[in-house]
Amino acid sequence: MKFFVDTADVTELRALAGTGLMDGVTTNPSLIAKSGRKMSEVIAEICSITDGPVSAEVTATDHETMLKEGRYLRAIAENVAVKVPLTEAGLRTCKVLSDEGTLVNVTLCFSANQALLAAKAGAAFISPFVGRLDDIGYDGMDLIADVVQIYGNYDFRTEVLVASIRHPVHVLQAAKLGAHVGTMPPGVIKALIKHPLTDKGLEAFLADWAKTGQSIL
Ligand code: E4P
Repeated sequence: MKFFVDTADVTELRALAGTGLMDGVTTNPSLIAKSGRKMSEVIAEICSITDGPVSAEVTATDHETMLKEGRYLRAIAENVAVKVPLTEAGLRTCKVLSDEGTLVNVTLCFSANQALLAAKAGAAFISPFVGRLDDIGYDGMDLIADVVQIYGNYDFRTEVLVASIRHPVHVLQAAKLGAHVGTMPPGVIKALIKHPLTDKGLEAFLADWAKTGQSIL
């Protein structure tokens, strides 16, 4: 399972570079706004931090303007994946950009049928939002199970990119379901590392080691 990091904060991304825990990055207009930076600059900088796909989202709602924005964004760096919303215009834009060889991430997916449409439009990634479904009383992971099954039925090459991940249990569930990618804030990746028994065990080992008076080097 690949891990994408869901942030436009380059300091956080630089801290994860070289750890093997960052296979790509996702951003959205809210994250770009939070960075307080010009979008083209921050996307270019993120693309210099990772070789993996970096999702940059269009903000137009009509096909023609989305296409222009998508072509502009993909020209920023070779590893830009253009993110489009799951609307009719977004799917149309996905088809054109995908046919041109651009990676497209179709975002704001909340149903399995929407995911089916994105695969048919040639998306490289579909982003079902599990946390936002949980927020309104659904089980977001049911959607992931459905999409993984449907894509498997037809050998679609579109990767299931589990989005709106909020905590480590989401990551575990997505991995058990065989999702290709999970995108998560840096805090969730850090939470995955931590275990109280790891801390306790290490503390005991180091205390015993100190009693030997040895040093390895
Ligand atoms: C990913 O591409 C999305 O931008 C992100 O996962 C949304 O997460 P949120 O629902 O926590 O805002």
